[in-house]
Amino acid sequence: YMVDKGNHRHFMEKEIHEQPEVISHTLAHYVDFTTGRTKPLELPFDFAKLDRIAISACGTAYLSGLIGKYWFERYARLPVDIDIASEFRYREMPLSKKSAALFISQSGETADTLASLRYCKGEGVPIGAVVNVRGSTIARESDVTLPTLAGPEIGVASTKAFTCQLSVMAALAIHAAAARGTVTEEEERKLVKDLAEAPRLANQVLRLDRQIEKVARELAHYKHVLYLGRDTNYPLALEGALKLKEISYIHAEGYAAGELKHGPIALIDENMPVIVIAPHDRIFEKTVSNMQEVAARGGKIILITDEKGAEKSTIDTMDTIVLPQVPEIAAPILYALPIQMLAYYTAVFMGTDVDQPRNLAKSVTVE
Ligand code: G6P
Repeated sequence: YMVDKGNHRHFMEKEIHEQPEVISHTLAHYVDFTTGRTKPLELPFDFAKLDRIAISACGTAYLSGLIGKYWFERYARLPVDIDIASEFRYREMPLSKKSAALFISQSGETADTLASLRYCKGEGVPIGAVVNVRGSTIARESDVTLPTLAGPEIGVASTKAFTCQLSVMAALAIHAAAARGTVTEEEERKLVKDLAEAPRLANQVLRLDRQIEKVARELAHYKHVLYLGRDTNYPLALEGALKLKEISYIHAEGYAAGELKHGPIALIDENMPVIVIAPHDRIFEKTVSNMQEVAARGGKIILITDEKGAEKSTIDTMDTIVLPQVPEIAAPILYALPIQMLAYYTAVFMGTDVDQPRNLAKSVTVE
């Protein structure tokens, strides 16, 4: 594996563009595209017999776990407790005998994630680790390794590792749903087929780069940004804000759109653009009313939606980024791309050190 920038200005840009390929690679490890079924996994637990799973991780890996929670609960009817590892490790959470623990880490070396894993081991709970680096400490200390096949990630701000983590979480949720009988064989096939669309659609979404670069040129003039989303777009709003602050140093906050009126609405004016992630899904209309609340207060909106959403929304926006229609289960993977590109191009305009942002480390092996 050649680790150089190729034709790209930064590793981050290269890694963003590698996503269709590495997502496809990762998915192929977990699902059989021809039969439409999940591949058998050798797990130290039986999904059908679990009453909950506990997920812990840090940073962007934590946000992939938060999206995983929506999937496990929706498709497999399996409750998920999700924690930031630095909180989990000291919280003395009681773990039921019918639970399993999952840890997500690109590097497999994050100190807090490792400490959380060791806590669960002490509690006698079976442990799975979603890791990108084979042979890492977290991989070695877990009962089963569930690899992300993203290849080496050099940019400090995680991109391809995140969408590969999402691919594994989605495949695992379908696997759990099949094992628990919460989906029929036909529904399982449909979910796998939908998920398998992700790499092809990711290629289409990446072609929005020139347009997103233009939006970033405007965004680079602001000091504060608010990101909003509902359902799986809520963790994505957190991820969008995290990416933006990590590499462009613009102060950004991610919020569940429904929480707007419980605080952040007080900050809305023409100096704080609001980026709204809202595909035309089951709760699109709810997010539209949040956008109306923002617009009524002079807030400027950057809407990230799909063709149907763009058609149905009556909101005046500063910019609208329009993705193709995508299946529900593939949406978080695909909507991760415009928020990564937006952070990337904004940082390029600001002239920051994109691959090595100040004060940040790729792998945090100390507490
Ligand atoms: C650091 C990196 C992030 C990463 C986080 C967790 O903060 O800058 O990109 O998400 O650590 O790292 P891990 O290797 O455990 O996924």
